[in-house]
Amino acid sequence: MKKWLTIFAVVLGAALFFCLTSCATRTPTDNKPEATVKGESKVLVAYMTWSGHLRTLSEWVADETGGELFRILVKDEYPKDYAETTERAKEELEKGIRPELSTHIPAEAIKNYDIIYIGFPVWWYDVPMAVWTFAEEYDFSGKTIVPFFSHQGSSDGANSMNTIKKLFPKSTVIEKPLSIRGTKTADSEQEVRDWVKSNGHSKNK
Ligand SMILES: Cc1cc2nc3c(=O)[nH]c(=O)nc-3n(C[C@H](O)[C@H](O)[C@H](O)COP(=O)(O)O)c2cc1C
Repeated sequence: MKKWLTIFAVVLGAALFFCLTSCATRTPTDNKPEATVKGESKVLVAYMTWSGHLRTLSEWVADETGGELFRILVKDEYPKDYAETTERAKEELEKGIRPELSTHIPAEAIKNYDIIYIGFPVWWYDVPMAVWTFAEEYDFSGKTIVPFFSHQGSSDGANSMNTIKKLFPKSTVIEKPLSIRGTKTADSEQEVRDWVKSNGHSKNK
């Protein structure tokens, strides 16, 4: 009996540990857009998120830079189910599908930004295809692109940086991206702010 109780406790502990380290990243957040951007700052913080980490990180980036927040949202929303989302993301990546977006930046605003922070979750060792749609929608010539991403193991972003450089050929891409493990998001505010400062983009210079 004691043996079974021990086995039960170990299994329960393992399940709890697994959930604490990955359940949070498997729960979708809402599909709310940010307020329409106005181009009143030199910095735009554009992000994509499914489970919400990038929103948290992006809010700190926007606060530290004084930049405007923009959420990249797809018209045909990703499923609420994690496995279904991974399947759709895989198909989009493999087939090079650019999902149509439901959020857009007004022309008079986009031209005012000099620095564009782009935040995304690593999906299938790469950049989600919605970011491709976003990158191809606007003229980013001469602007500075600052990538940052969240992951659950692909801490170097896998192929993400190669893709980002390909997506913004006429921009200066800052090649020291911030990489935050999804489950460590809540503890990373100082790291985010320090990284923004190290880029020379803090409003509190
Ligand atoms: C469709 C999909 C594919 C993913 N692929 C990877 C991957 O290749 N490497 C990785 O480290 N994490 C992967 N993840 C985990 C996410 O990158 C991680 O949970 C991230 O923190 C999510 O950010 P978000 O909360 O802003 O959506 C994937 C998640 C999803 C939903």
